[in-house]
Amino acid sequence: MDARDLSEDKVDNYRWQLGRLELVPIVIGGMGVDISTSELALTACRLGGVGHISDAMVQHVSDRKYDTHFTKAKSEKHRGTRDGIDKTTVKFDLEHLRQAQLNHVRHTMDRKQGPGAIFINVMEKLTMGAPGDTLRARLAGAMDGGIDGITLSAGLHIGSLKLVEDHPRFRDVKIGPIVSSVRALKIFLKGAARLKRMPDYVIVEGPLAGGHLGFGDDWRDYDLRSIVAEILAFLREEKLDIPVLPAGGIFTGTDAASYLRMGAAAVQVATRFTITEECGLPARVKQDYARAREEDLVVSGVSPTGYPIRLLSYSPCFDSNIKPQCEAFGYLLSREGTCAYLDAYDATPVDEKGHKLPVQGKVCLCYHFSKFNCYTCGHYVYRLKDTTHRLADGRYQILTATHVFRDYQFSTGNHVALPAPLEAPAAATADQ
Ligand SMILES: Cc1cc2nc3c(=O)[nH]c(=O)nc-3n(C[C@H](O)[C@H](O)[C@H](O)COP(=O)(O)O)c2cc1C
Repeated sequence: MDARDLSEDKVDNYRWQLGRLELVPIVIGGMGVDISTSELALTACRLGGVGHISDAMVQHVSDRKYDTHFTKAKSEKHRGTRDGIDKTTVKFDLEHLRQAQLNHVRHTMDRKQGPGAIFINVMEKLTMGAPGDTLRARLAGAMDGGIDGITLSAGLHIGSLKLVEDHPRFRDVKIGPIVSSVRALKIFLKGAARLKRMPDYVIVEGPLAGGHLGFGDDWRDYDLRSIVAEILAFLREEKLDIPVLPAGGIFTGTDAASYLRMGAAAVQVATRFTITEECGLPARVKQDYARAREEDLVVSGVSPTGYPIRLLSYSPCFDSNIKPQCEAFGYLLSREGTCAYLDAYDATPVDEKGHKLPVQGKVCLCYHFSKFNCYTCGHYVYRLKDTTHRLADGRYQILTATHVFRDYQFSTGNHVALPAPLEAPAAATADQ
């Protein structure tokens, strides 16, 4: 292709053949906690792409949306440890957990329409007091609920496939890991080869993605395109035909097409959908995303998971002194009942009235994600304002997911299509 053809190239020139499905090669990434809602995933599916729901804090999500009471039951059962920091006895009821997952997936899959697919994002770092058992319950619940695909994220998932090798859908459901290096991919493939269950795709997430990052403090030294090139070369060498999906900082259809031209099967995107109607963030938070400036971004060590997380600096979660909520939530508790926030909370002094001072260094991710207080986002969040209109009252016009999806699919020349304005332009209004 010459230079002009390159800028005219678009995502719609490509398709991703996944088993019997011929997909528009756009995947909306999982965004927990219920930021990538069923509605968002269903839109991608209806338009011929792939949408993810997320199973982060799935009992809480099931309670909020489907009138169940798993969180209350857990909280009451473990009432005795509420005032201490010893959480060794706080465990999930595995049948409740499987049921919550089943609810979430079924309520989504029952409404599925169109030629695409619905996947679920399952994070290994949600260790939930019993890492193997709770992960098994979530994976089984998702497959029982009829999910099309499972994306294994936030961890190396060395033992995850083995947990469900006996499930009747183990070889029919699509499965793919998220990796940030060829090394992580090799580790995953070793386990997969042992079970003769190779992944159906691999998502390669670079350092500009939203959520937790699979990099250390040196994340600036890496770039997505080089990692994707390295992984494509490795797969070619090994004669492994595994579709590769780059993710992180792919902001325009032209960016996306450039990866497809390189040999990627599809792209995974997320941040641009945070200001859509279908996104689960509250309306005021969508405005907080839309107004972000580059200087508002931080890659922070506040997550108890140990992974860096990209956040907006004005996220309400910072400097809070909230009491640990492990009895109700506890999604990050280790097998031994520890969490880095528990330690940070315990080490925080009280003021002269006996009130805890703001906890430094860590945040209670469970509590704050449940309240949408952690404004995690991809690096290019500050370009969201260029994708929509500013309204007369200073707010930004919220988009539809269909608009953003189609813009990724059809745009050329690095353009971003603006939506039809909700309001007449200011000058025209003044003339009337
Ligand atoms: C608000 C938000 C929440 C996210 N939550 C998760 C998550 O729970 N698990 C996960 O694996 N990735 C998560 N991600 C990462 C996305 O799935 C996706 O891979 C990445 O953000 C793509 O880059 P982009 O946002 O620059 O398009 C999140 C991203 C955003 C923006």
